Amino acid sequence: MTRTEGLKLLKENISSQNLIKHCLATEAIMRALARHFNEDEERWGLAGLLHDIDYEIVKNDLSQHSLTGAKMLDAAGVDKDICQAVRVHNENHGIPPETLLEKSLFVTDPLTGLIVAAALVLPSKKVAGLAPENILNRLGEKAFARGVNREIIKKCEELLNLKLEEFIEIGLKAMQSISGELGL
Ligand SMILES: [Fe+2]
Repeated sequence: MTRTEGLKLLKENISSQNLIKHCLATEAIMRALARHFNEDEERWGLAGLLHDIDYEIVKNDLSQHSLTGAKMLDAAGVDKDICQAVRVHNENHGIPPETLLEKSLFVTDPLTGLIVAAALVLPSKKVAGLAPENILNRLGEKAFARGVNREIIKKCEELLNLKLEEFIEIGLKAMQSISGELGL
């Protein structure tokens, strides 16, 4: 599946603009991680772009979130390893991420939320106004953006062998590079 086809599929299934932006942010970070690890940027980007494809379909039953999405993507002809990365990204299933792709998507998903929340409290509301240290500080503030699972973000160290600071820097730069599309 091409990126254009992936974006079309996403927009057919997701109406929330905020959710589409979250998917674009996840895609951008996944692409940056693929470059960092010398992996396939297009395929990793697609995993990020499509990981929440089922969100509005399973709405009232989050126990099905990501399981349904993986099935939808499989039916759409998306490669099996991408479907599996989508399936395991919902930590509530307790499926341990195994491949580098799976691990990357797993830790990237919550990082986007922390960066968005950190930007929205700035007077400018722009990611351009953020430095990696700001994100790191926000990560340490438990009362800030409570919905963001810090423990998963921090797993970048054991799962990806990336220092937290480095992971945050990669993620922030990736989101800054598409700030126009994110409206942030
Ligand atoms: Fe997500």
